[in-house]
Amino acid sequence: MARTLIRGGLVVTAADEIPADVLVDGERIAAIAAPEVAEAWLPDADLVLDATGRYVIPGGVDAHTHMEMPFGGTVASDTFETGTRAAAFGGTTTIIDFAIQQVGGSLRAGLDAWHAKAAGNCAVDYAFHMILADIDAAALKEMNLLVAEGVTSFKMFMAYPGVLYSDDGRILRAMQRAAENGALPMMHAENGIAIDVLIEQALAAGRTAPRVHGEVRKALLEAEATHRAIQLARVAGSPLYVVHVSAAEAVAELTAARDLGLNVFGETCPQYLFLSTDDLARPGFEGAKFVCSTPLRPAEHQAALWRGLRGDDLSVVSTDHCPFCFAGQKDLGRDDFSRIPNGLPGVENRMDLLHQAVLDGHISRRRWIELACATPARMFGLYPRKGTLAPGSDADLVIYDPAAEQTVSAATHHMNVDYSAYEGRKLTGRAETVLSRGTVVVTGGRYVGPAGHGTFLPRATCQYLT
Ligand code: URP
Ligand code: ZN
Ligand code: ZN
Repeated sequence: MARTLIRGGLVVTAADEIPADVLVDGERIAAIAAPEVAEAWLPDADLVLDATGRYVIPGGVDAHTHMEMPFGGTVASDTFETGTRAAAFGGTTTIIDFAIQQVGGSLRAGLDAWHAKAAGNCAVDYAFHMILADIDAAALKEMNLLVAEGVTSFKMFMAYPGVLYSDDGRILRAMQRAAENGALPMMHAENGIAIDVLIEQALAAGRTAPRVHGEVRKALLEAEATHRAIQLARVAGSPLYVVHVSAAEAVAELTAARDLGLNVFGETCPQYLFLSTDDLARPGFEGAKFVCSTPLRPAEHQAALWRGLRGDDLSVVSTDHCPFCFAGQKDLGRDDFSRIPNGLPGVENRMDLLHQAVLDGHISRRRWIELACATPARMFGLYPRKGTLAPGSDADLVIYDPAAEQTVSAATHHMNVDYSAYEGRKLTGRAETVLSRGTVVVTGGRYVGPAGHGTFLPRATCQYLT
């Protein structure tokens, strides 16, 4: 088995920052030691990587992606191949994507369809959550089978009536099942029934521009649904993970629940931290590039999100990567904002945006790793195989140059989408060399890994439950 020695870096995990060398043996980390101790490993190393002046960090874990997701009359533009390669370029070495149950279909069929899309195509390792779109008795029964297969989290939607929406009764039943089998319910918390009324009224009044998407999907309706989801989980006795939190009022609901000691967890995404309704209101149809749900909020909400991230009322930053090209996909809603496919690209940018947040003083360096690597791995049953650097962990690691300057652009990114939500933004920091299970997959700005290197990761249940 090939042995790789990474020398001279600052090893940063959620717990520690230590000058140390890392020995990789095959697919795993064999040892981490002070440079003078690691000197002895040099003669046996097949490959030596110099990390002087760099950080050595765990590969990112992005717990919320939608590769090739059919949505809004089209399909998300990144395949598992292009999306996971872009993830690798950005220093993310694990994604958890969402398999979808079709209405009238089984969980088995939905999961098999996603396995077929991903198998043999991924550049980095991957796992699945399951979206419950039709919660009947059969689906409830199948939840147990999926948990046994390592699909241990189930997303439900209080939004999108007639598409992915579940009513409160169905949600409660799924949460009751999760309370029995240890699964983690995930919630898209927006009151979709009320939002649909506001959409209808806006369109009837001739208000069709992208910015209206943000106006009808009100913060209060995110907060109301968050509150309701929390109460349903309490009644069911299940934990709850609220995805893509964007409103300050929703963070307040999470804070209140966590102050009660409930197993309620929150996720936010870079777009809510770095973008705002000002982007949705860009001239012409440009705002369509920023249409996602929950929507971007006025910039004032960002302070509450950063506070939530520092205090752990928000515990994870994932991307909700769901790219649609501006030309040919976002244009489906040129005359009607409600037809713009919802979603933003970002899987390649998350680690760097959060590193910029470290430089800007929002979070500490270790919190960066905790939010982007360790906590998502623990939340979704992958720790310590993923999310940290420790003997026995998978050798998913990044030699990260904290001083590298970059300007984000669609012209240079690797995601299969014709625009960047962060076009022109200057960031400091960049993944220089990326290893996935001991194999160098990105170095010198090139993807050098074998095709289809990534494997499916069956997951344990959430590792945070009290
Ligand atoms: O706008 C979004 N978030 N698109 C992806 C689907 C979802 O709700 O996560
Ligand atoms: Zn969602
Ligand atoms: Zn999503």
